[in-house]
Amino acid sequence: MSGLIDNLTVNLGERSYEISIGAGAIDSLGEKLSSLGFNKKIVIVSNETVFKHYGACVSQSLNKAGFEVFPIFIPDGEAYKDMRYVESVLNEMFTVGLDRKSAVVALGGGVVGDLAGFAASIYMRGIALVQVPTTLLSQVDSSVGGKTGVNNPFGKNMIGTFYQPRFVCIDIDTLKTLPERELRAGIAEVIKYGIIRDAALFAFLKDNRQKILSRDSAALKHIIHTSCRIKAEVVSKDERESGLREILNCGHTAGHALETVTQYTQYLHGEAVAWGMYAEARIAAALGLLPAAALKEIRDLIEGYGLPTSIPKGIAIGSLVEAMIYDKKTVAGAIKFVLPTEIGKVKIIKGIEKEFILSVLKSET
Ligand SMILES: NC(=O)c1ccc[n+]([C@@H]2O[C@H](COP(=O)([O-])OP(=O)(O)OC[C@H]3O[C@@H](n4cnc5c(N)ncnc54)[C@H](O)[C@@H]3O)[C@@H](O)[C@H]2O)c1
Ligand SMILES: [Zn+2]
Repeated sequence: MSGLIDNLTVNLGERSYEISIGAGAIDSLGEKLSSLGFNKKIVIVSNETVFKHYGACVSQSLNKAGFEVFPIFIPDGEAYKDMRYVESVLNEMFTVGLDRKSAVVALGGGVVGDLAGFAASIYMRGIALVQVPTTLLSQVDSSVGGKTGVNNPFGKNMIGTFYQPRFVCIDIDTLKTLPERELRAGIAEVIKYGIIRDAALFAFLKDNRQKILSRDSAALKHIIHTSCRIKAEVVSKDERESGLREILNCGHTAGHALETVTQYTQYLHGEAVAWGMYAEARIAAALGLLPAAALKEIRDLIEGYGLPTSIPKGIAIGSLVEAMIYDKKTVAGAIKFVLPTEIGKVKIIKGIEKEFILSVLKSET
């Protein structure tokens, strides 16, 4: 057992909020929301996969605190993270009769969290949002920091808002039912926090692989707590990504390109980011910014968790580099990378020649 529930705060002035992390955290969700003073009608946005496992315990906790619960479902999958389902969630919220003092609970992974968060941010100009993330990725990343949004034909997350939740409830027990591949993909984002900001987290991941993969509660709690602490610190300093928050994109310039080129069908986000972190580390090493020993450590850790560091020969490197140029974070064609300089430190580098990137990515690893 991992013991008590930990609490962290995301410091954003009057929009500050708490993150609770621990096994069984859902049990005290109702009590917590009651203390925040929301109206008694409350909506849970979820999908049937997640609700089947956790709908009853979340509803029970809320009922016990006097809330009347109305579930709203969206279909399971990234393909449904779009405006059609925002519209249908909003319509159901009006039908329930939520008012400006009501709250929306997002119960699920990043797809549910992003869509429910966006709907909450625009319903009557914004009502309270509570995140109850149930994938490792959403627990360490998407539920904290306030980015909400949906996809459209022009790209991923092209429509959205910055809208902070009022509370984040991370119940580690929910990871027990998470498919193995999803768990490993979530670990990629944890490795990212190690690379950008925390050599001790990186070492912990290296030394506790078996425990983490066998879902030992204390080990999971440690990596989730550390990741959320780092994300909270970064977001507190730069909520809207005009500076420091960019470091969270480590591995993502190359990773997003791989997702784009494979049409989001071959790789889970975390898997693409894992490859992206190693690809970018190779670029850093080729520029003389990262020592060879650290590059090898990054590779060994990623591979140790069964995540990719190489891609099939059929994927054209040229099209990957083109996709980096067309990324929404690229300004005036100058690709921006968050490159490691040692384990725990990164530097933002712009304007690396396209030919140089091509030559590094084409070379044998
Ligand atoms: N807002 C942000 O800052 C941010 C950051 C990173 C990613 N994202 C977004 O997050 C999304 C990806 O999120 P994800 O990786 O959580 O995927 P997801 O939400 O699609 O969940 C993955 C799968 O696991 C299932 N699932 C969820 N919890 C489960 C559980 N406890 N037990 C069993 N099955 C469970 C889901 O139903 C789904 O089939 C993407 O849309 C991405 O754009 C947002
Ligand atoms: Zn990511």
